[in-house]
Amino acid sequence: LASIEVPVDGIPAGGCIVVKWRGKPVFIKKRTQEELDDINAVDWKSLRDPQSDKARRIKEEVLIVLGVCTHLGCVPISNAGDFKGGWFCPCHGSHYDASARIRKGPAPLNLEVPPYEFIDGDSKVKIG
Ligand code: FES
Repeated sequence: LASIEVPVDGIPAGGCIVVKWRGKPVFIKKRTQEELDDINAVDWKSLRDPQSDKARRIKEEVLIVLGVCTHLGCVPISNAGDFKGGWFCPCHGSHYDASARIRKGPAPLNLEVPPYEFIDGDSKVKIG
């Protein structure tokens, strides 16, 4: 399938679901205000792969990224690691924040944002 449609209105705050798109896992994370405050407190220009959170999402509360570690391709664990609401890759210890930006460990880049749009009155996303 070239694209998939996924309901997002049922994801609880802080929750993260995993769907499959083009054979790869995709994380859809509903972020809490606390998580947003944390990632917005950091100076993004100082990060290893400098990207503002704003450049990585359409709606502030929903983050959508490929679940493929940019080090050697393992699937990171959601809501784990040193950064609140972030991801931890158990293969070699990469930590991503709640914007899925690499913050610690060997991975060189942030988790990749796939092409997507909100549809059906924002209750679903179409990925791809
Ligand atoms: Fe994720 Fe190496 S594959 S840290």
